[in-house]
Amino acid sequence: MRVRITGNAARLANPLFNSNKLKMGVFFANIGGGARPTLAEDRTRLSWPSVVEIAQMADGAGIEAFIPLATWSARNRDSDFTKYSYEPWTWAAAIAQATHNICVFTTAQVPIFPPVVAAKLTATVDHISNGRFAINVVCGHAGQALEGLVGAPDLGHDEWYAYADEWIEILDRLWSDPDIFDYSGRYFDLKGAGSYPKPVQQPRPPIMNAGNSDVGQRWAARHSDMMFTAAPTGDDEAIKAKVDHIRGIATEYGREVEVWMSSSVVVRPTEREALEYLDYYAVDHADLLAVASLLRHPTLPAVLQALPAATRREQLRRMVAGSFNMQILVGTPEQLVDRLINLSKAGVDGLNMTFVNYQDELCRVVNHVLPLLEQAGLRGPFARQPSATG
Ligand SMILES: Cc1cc2nc3c(=O)[nH]c(=O)nc-3n(C[C@H](O)[C@H](O)[C@H](O)COP(=O)(O)O)c2cc1C
Repeated sequence: MRVRITGNAARLANPLFNSNKLKMGVFFANIGGGARPTLAEDRTRLSWPSVVEIAQMADGAGIEAFIPLATWSARNRDSDFTKYSYEPWTWAAAIAQATHNICVFTTAQVPIFPPVVAAKLTATVDHISNGRFAINVVCGHAGQALEGLVGAPDLGHDEWYAYADEWIEILDRLWSDPDIFDYSGRYFDLKGAGSYPKPVQQPRPPIMNAGNSDVGQRWAARHSDMMFTAAPTGDDEAIKAKVDHIRGIATEYGREVEVWMSSSVVVRPTEREALEYLDYYAVDHADLLAVASLLRHPTLPAVLQALPAATRREQLRRMVAGSFNMQILVGTPEQLVDRLINLSKAGVDGLNMTFVNYQDELCRVVNHVLPLLEQAGLRGPFARQPSATG
């Protein structure tokens, strides 16, 4: 059981700030149908017992982060992809109660949660988790994704980041200022703002920011502890250039920011088995409706059908396994660890994993990949602890 400490000491005890050179997270863990646009029969379906099972497996293995996707719209009525999801704050509160070690995130789209609401939600989950909470802030495409659903103002992409500047400024005060204050800005005009109790972690819980654009990188450099971003699979030079660029901007602001990336993982005893599973889920059982909708390319199924088989396979591997620009990590444990060593050399601090079948694949990662990462010096040994309810 984690000792109850408060303040900056609690923040520094958050597993996100441990000494592991490469930190690991499980992403999309509140979503049904698996994290990939696939109709593979074995994809993880949404149920609370399965979410708790996955959380406790990650928790017991010393994985640092458990991160939900925030989505309010069903992308396509005829496709299950991201259609079923648990709401991220309430999900985080319950996961916090079911775990002991892992840092539980919410994913917060800034237009949905006014600062006074976000401040109170944060303090609540930070208390429940005893300082194991963090926020993945989502600013950029919120306008597009939420338009018409939550009555958000119609701001352009970059302006959402200006809005988020005020949003986080107010939150920082609500989280740490003992007094009640007024705030007058371009987007917010608050009288008598104050939030009690304060979060356990002071001056604030860790902030991650998911984005890619220049303005998104600048926001992360100014306000975040971690930027959660994407880069082309396998191009380690491009990854290094992106990481260096983000760190460089943070230096301009006199800050440091970690860079985390997302991945889709298949690990099997042999490379052949891993590739067979990749083709099973990404090629043979691709959810073409979901892929076409993600890429905003309605005629994509017909275009793919007209391609020679080998080209079609390559395209589908990239579009399904690599959707959302995830690093495609497919192979034996040793092959995966080689890729992770290269990502770490390129400066990546954290890797968030997604899977088709979360239970089976995460189990293989825990049993076969994590020990090799320890041998490679990317992660220290973790004293396995029992889970809260397991
Ligand atoms: C790794 C990653 C995770 C993201 N997760 C979410 C999410 O859960 N919900 C959401 O609405 N947007 C999410 N986004 C979208 C971002 O908020 C952002 O709008 C988009 O990446 C565009 O980046 P930009 O704003 O820097 O242009 C995510 C983006 C990235 C790169």
